[in-house]
Amino acid sequence: MKKWLLVSILSVLVLALAACSGGDDKTSDTEYTKENPLVIKFSHVTSIESVKGKAADEFAKLVADKTEGKVKVEVYPSSQLYGDNDELDALMSGNVHMIAPSVTKMVKLDPRWQYVDMPFLFQDDEHVQKFFTSDVAKSLLNSDQLAANDIQGLSFWGNGFKHFSNNKRPLVTVEDYKGLKFRAQAGKVLEAQFHALDAGSATIAFGETYAALQQGTVDGAENPFNNFDTQKYHEVQKYLSTSAHGRLDYAIFVNKSFWDKIPADLAAQVNEALAEATELANNLAKDENAKSFENIKATGKVEIHEMTDADKETLKAALQPVYEKFESVITPELIEGINSLK
Ligand code: LMR
Repeated sequence: MKKWLLVSILSVLVLALAACSGGDDKTSDTEYTKENPLVIKFSHVTSIESVKGKAADEFAKLVADKTEGKVKVEVYPSSQLYGDNDELDALMSGNVHMIAPSVTKMVKLDPRWQYVDMPFLFQDDEHVQKFFTSDVAKSLLNSDQLAANDIQGLSFWGNGFKHFSNNKRPLVTVEDYKGLKFRAQAGKVLEAQFHALDAGSATIAFGETYAALQQGTVDGAENPFNNFDTQKYHEVQKYLSTSAHGRLDYAIFVNKSFWDKIPADLAAQVNEALAEATELANNLAKDENAKSFENIKATGKVEIHEMTDADKETLKAALQPVYEKFESVITPELIEGINSLK
């Protein structure tokens, strides 16, 4: 009788363990087909018309082609599935498998990602592209901080330089920023940037920014032209200065446990698709931002102040306190590493 009981208990335990490790968990030996594809959920916050939106959709197409439909990338744009406040958690818990946030939002896991906000750190798009494939950039993608949270960084996708906009007045001199309140993406570096200009800031999710500008919760924002254009900020912002004071760029992050389980043959094809989509994203970024600048002008709704080099030098000097405060956080290695690529 006792033996029978022991056997029953053991069988229940074995079944329970099998259920835990099974579930809908994908394993390397699952046979994927067009009818039963491996699904990669890719969540992002911008529109399908944005640089990121176009590159994400192209990635999905490339994956479908290369794997003959055995892997399906489901792209969820426009914060449809998860917004800024929860996409990283969703990635860590495996509810989505891939995200492409503006890198400063990774400050939650590693403050060094705020390198991107350091004022005037990057000289031009070519400098940024050199950084993306550099050893310092790889050290961010492969950091212990990400690994400890079951995240792997795969590659960088560029967007562009950010420019200040607002609703109250043209931003010509550094005094013009005083007393205004700006929307910030995340982190203390951006807070310090606005503080250095005697302005205030509030962290607001991308999906809520249009409403915040419309309702006057904040007066201004900072965006690459492409985000300004594809979010129709010309409807809620009157003045734009071509400050190019910081960058907004993306990196592709995946849930490591999920990624490592993709069968090797399919993983090779998905990685090939990602390399091609990365190239496309990086080629697209500069042109799309230039087109968007023309679109913004064509609305006739935004007064544009084209900043001269001298204007930018004055702004750069005013933002110097950000370096004093954050150089050690971002780390001299990273800042010097980026400077050495000029
Ligand atoms: C922002 O919040 O302004 C950006 O991160 C949006 C984006 O992903 O381009």
